[in-house]
Amino acid sequence: MSNTVLRVTNLTKLYGQRAAVDNISFEIYEGEIFGFLGPNGSGKTTTIKCITGLAKPTYGKITICGHNINKEFEKAIINVGGIIENPEMYKNFRGIDNLKYYASLYKGITKDKIKEVVQLVGMQNRIKDKVKTYSLGMKQRLGIAQALLHDPKLLILDEPTNGLDPNGILEMRLFLKNIAHKKNIAILISSHILAEMELMCDTVGIINNGKIVKVKAIDQLKKLESYQKIEAVVNFPNFAAKLIYEKFQPKKIEVKGNIVSFSLPSEKIPEITQFLVSNNLSIYSISSVSKSLEEIFLETLNTKLLTTSIQ
Ligand SMILES: Nc1ncnc2c1ncn2[C@@H]1O[C@H](COP(=O)(O)OP(=O)(O)OP(=O)(O)O)[C@@H](O)[C@H]1O
Ligand SMILES: [Mg+2]
Repeated sequence: MSNTVLRVTNLTKLYGQRAAVDNISFEIYEGEIFGFLGPNGSGKTTTIKCITGLAKPTYGKITICGHNINKEFEKAIINVGGIIENPEMYKNFRGIDNLKYYASLYKGITKDKIKEVVQLVGMQNRIKDKVKTYSLGMKQRLGIAQALLHDPKLLILDEPTNGLDPNGILEMRLFLKNIAHKKNIAILISSHILAEMELMCDTVGIINNGKIVKVKAIDQLKKLESYQKIEAVVNFPNFAAKLIYEKFQPKKIEVKGNIVSFSLPSEKIPEITQFLVSNNLSIYSISSVSKSLEEIFLETLNTKLLTTSIQ
């Protein structure tokens, strides 16, 4: 098991009577990219502000590399690099000058270190151009390079993909993975866009209304039985749906045109196929479709809303 870099335990942040963050706990390990996923106003930025000391937790404990941020703030925060809002940059200066200036604020950042971070974010070709000539994606990269200068063990990026196009997102994913693996650092990224998290993260924590609803490895999340869906194209879909429903009792079954779709594990496909054929149905195709993170996310939120309204 790799080392825990960030441990958040029972974190609560109240603004007046309202809990922006409500008793959340999670951990992030070395080399792990953790996606913090939640709709607008769910508490992502507030959590990040508590972790970085920009907001004071009302209750709960946060440790970074074993140091409690409340009791040993400096020892804890030295391990963190981050972009919470837009990074401060001097637009009339070249990228490299911004990095040099930032490096001068810390002790012991060498020229080689600056070179290394430029390479890590893939900005070698443009680092000598002025920041005002950069695209949004390049500014993001420069910001991340800056955040990496003092060799943090935890990199925190609040909505880093905002405004990037799909290609920019893909590139960011590649270089973040590269950083996480090469430098063995933990990365916390927040986003409200599911498809991005699916592409970028190893683990995802879903947050809603200040509460963590679920923490799962992306692969595990997709493999969960209840999240698998089978689609069969048959000649008599309503009849097939009735038969499948009676014999296999899936939680949900739907008919659209001649497609019957239902939630059952894919291991059942041979049995279902035999069963339908033995009932004289013709099958044109049958396959499992894993749900997108988006569907899982919405379902998780809906279930949660349902449970809350029942209580
Ligand atoms: N300084 C503050 N004072 C009062 N309420 C606040 C403050 N900061 C945040 N909140 C409230 O806390 C809740 C969580 O906000 P937060 O900014 O953490 O959400 P978020 O998940 O980052 O949303 P977004 O996706 O829009 O960035 C919201 O209801 C917000 O209005
Ligand atoms: Mg936010």
